[in-house]
Amino acid sequence: MKLLIANWKMAPETPAQAKLLAKATAAIARTHKKNVAFVACVPFVHLTTVAATARTLVLGAQDVSAGLNIASTGQVSAGMLKSLNAAYCIIGHSESRARGDTNELVKAKLERLLEKKIQIILCVGEKSRDVQGWYLSEIKDQIETALLEVPKAALKRLIIAYEPLWAIGSAATRVATPAECREMIIFIRKLLTDLSDEKTARAVPILYGGSVDEENAASFITEGEAGGLLVGRVSLAIKQLAVLAKSINF
Ligand code: PGA
Repeated sequence: MKLLIANWKMAPETPAQAKLLAKATAAIARTHKKNVAFVACVPFVHLTTVAATARTLVLGAQDVSAGLNIASTGQVSAGMLKSLNAAYCIIGHSESRARGDTNELVKAKLERLLEKKIQIILCVGEKSRDVQGWYLSEIKDQIETALLEVPKAALKRLIIAYEPLWAIGSAATRVATPAECREMIIFIRKLLTDLSDEKTARAVPILYGGSVDEENAASFITEGEAGGLLVGRVSLAIKQLAVLAKSINF
């Protein structure tokens, strides 16, 4: 089974548009459900609408508050997400890190999600690559800070999404190659093994994200050995998303 996580980012603008997108996404998810498990990570304000419109669609959020205190104006707690049926939540997305999320803050967010038994989609990725391989220590820091104190049993609630910053969004310079994805997945799996054990580490899905489209999706799974994909812009383009989902239905 491959995971296909749709990250709607800050779209769409209206509930009516969210309904249309949810219905179309749910239809694609149903068509490919034998081999592809869909999760739609939608903006907070659309969680209720999407849950009511597309009851079969598995829902996720795109962030959560690290705090426990209600004096957190503008934030959304893990308990709120749980009550709105968000089964998954993205943390550490590069766009959130760019707004100030440090590794320590991501760790606190992870703890809040664990408390509420929400599946964690932990995004990691390097800003740029260097020939010496120093970028690997950036990934190591992101993973170790988040997970060092997490009990082994809790790792069953974890999904890691490898998203190199240089490959994400409309400012992407290029897409990662499946070989680059595969190398990083091996590296991340080794880090997880060191933090737990081989069996636990093997059970953690490691996804690829960053300019995934209907042309390159399958190669990240077959050659890149990703357990699934985190898809941003293409998740808002239904025709493309349908072709993408079909391409990984094997
Ligand atoms: P993209 O975004 O697919 O639009 O590059 C990926 C993401 O933000 O998770």
